[in-house]
Amino acid sequence: MFPRLKRLLLYVLSSVIFGLFLYFNKETKPLVNPVIPKTETTPKGLFSWASTSNTFTKCDPNTSHSNVSVSLPEPHRLFLMYKHCRNFSTLLKPSKCEEDTFLLLAIKSLPINIDRRIAIRNTWGKQLESVNKKIKLLFLLGKSESNLPVQSLHQLLAYESREFKDLIQWDFVDNFFNLTLKEIHFLRWFTNECPCARYVLKGDDDVFINTFNIVEFLEELNPDDELFVGDVITKAFPIRNTKVKYFIPKSMYNLPHYPSYAGGGGYVMSRKTTHHLFSTAENVDLFPIDDVFVGMCLEKMNVTPQFHSGFKTFGIQKPVNQFDPCLYKGLMVVHKLNPTEMWIMWSLVSDEEMRCALKV
Ligand SMILES: *[C@@H]1O[C@H](CO)[C@@H](O)[C@H](O)[C@H]1NC(C)=O
Ligand SMILES: *[C@@H]1O[C@H](CO)[C@@H](O)[C@H](O)[C@H]1NC(C)=O
Ligand SMILES: *[C@@H]1O[C@H](CO)[C@@H](O)[C@H](O)[C@H]1NC(C)=O
Ligand SMILES: *[C@@H]1O[C@H](CO)[C@@H](O)[C@H](O)[C@H]1NC(C)=O
Repeated sequence: MFPRLKRLLLYVLSSVIFGLFLYFNKETKPLVNPVIPKTETTPKGLFSWASTSNTFTKCDPNTSHSNVSVSLPEPHRLFLMYKHCRNFSTLLKPSKCEEDTFLLLAIKSLPINIDRRIAIRNTWGKQLESVNKKIKLLFLLGKSESNLPVQSLHQLLAYESREFKDLIQWDFVDNFFNLTLKEIHFLRWFTNECPCARYVLKGDDDVFINTFNIVEFLEELNPDDELFVGDVITKAFPIRNTKVKYFIPKSMYNLPHYPSYAGGGGYVMSRKTTHHLFSTAENVDLFPIDDVFVGMCLEKMNVTPQFHSGFKTFGIQKPVNQFDPCLYKGLMVVHKLNPTEMWIMWSLVSDEEMRCALKV
C-alpha cells in the first residue's frame, strides 16, 4: 500500500509546484512585458530551442477563400485560408529513438497539460519492468494559443524537454483544427527518426492505456503486416449543425458519410501501416478532423481499420463500480480519465495479486 501512497503524494506535490510556478510568473510579470521587445520574447540559447526554430516557416494565407467562406465560423475560415501550409519547423526535439523500440506511445498533448504528462510518465507511459520490450513515450505538441501566459509556459516546456526528453513541439498553433497538422508532422518524424519502431500507439493525453494488454496483444503479430486497430466507427454522418464542435459544411465535405475511422483517443498501428500512411497523407488534402483524415488516408490505402472491443475511446458506459480493477484489466484504451484516476487505475491494473482474466 505504501509505494502507491508515495506515488500519489509525489503527483500531488508536482501539481502544486507547477501551480505555484504559473501563479508567481503571472504575479511578477505583466502578460505583455513592455521592456522586452515583442519580437524577441524568447532569447535564443537560453531555453535550448532546437536550432531549426531559426528557420521559421512562413506561409501566407490563401485569400481567395475569404469571399466564399464569410458565412463560415472563424475556425473553419482560418482552416481554409491556411490549409496549404503543411510544413512547420520543429521547436523542441525528443531524445533519439532506439532501433529496438517495440512500442512507440505517441500522445497528443497541449503545452498547458503538464499535469497529464506527469501522470502518464509515472503510470502507463513508463517502461514495463515485467516485459522485456522497449517502450518509448513521446508527447506531440504545437504552440499554445496566445491568450495563455506564453512566456512562463515556454520556460517550463524547455525545462520539461531537457528533463524528460520526450517532447516534440512544432511551430503551429495547437488547437482542434490543427490536429491534422500534428498528424502529418508526426508521420514525417516517424519516417525520418524512428522508422524501425515496431508498433505505434497514437492517443490523447486523457486516455488510460493498459500497456500490459497492448504489448500482449501485439506480441503475436508481425510489424511488417498492415495493422490498424481501434474503436472503429463506420458510416458516421458529417455534422451539419454549426453549433457543434465537429461541424463540417457541405463545401468542405459533400459525401453522405465519412469513411470508416478509429476514434483519435487511441489506436494502434504497425510500422508498415505507419510508413504507408505517411506517404499517402502527404498527397491528401488536409481535413480539420484528424481521425477522419486518417480514415480518408486508410481508404486510399485499401486498409480496413479493425474494430477491437478493448478500445473504448468514445467513452465507457458508467459501470456499477467505476474503480473495479477487473473492468480495466480487460481493456486496452479507456477514454477520459483525469490524472488522479490514472494513478488509481494504474496501481490497480499493475497489481499482480489482482486476479482477473487478462483477455477480453
Ligand atoms: C487558394 O485557393 C484556391 C481556391 O480553392 C485554389 O484554387 C488555389 O490553388 C489556392 N492557392 C494555394 C496557394 O493553395
Ligand atoms: C472578393 O470580393 C472582393 C470585393 O467584393 C472582390 O474585389 C474580389 O475580387 C473577390 N475575390 C475573389 C477571389 O473572388
Ligand atoms: C519543409 O521545409 C524544409 C525547409 O524549407 C524543407 O527542407 C523540407 O523538405 C520541407 N518538407 C516537406 C515535407 O515539404
Ligand atoms: C494552424 O496553425 C497555423 C500556424 O500557427 C495558423 O496560422 C492557423 O491559423 C491555424 N489554423 C487554425 C484553424 O487555427
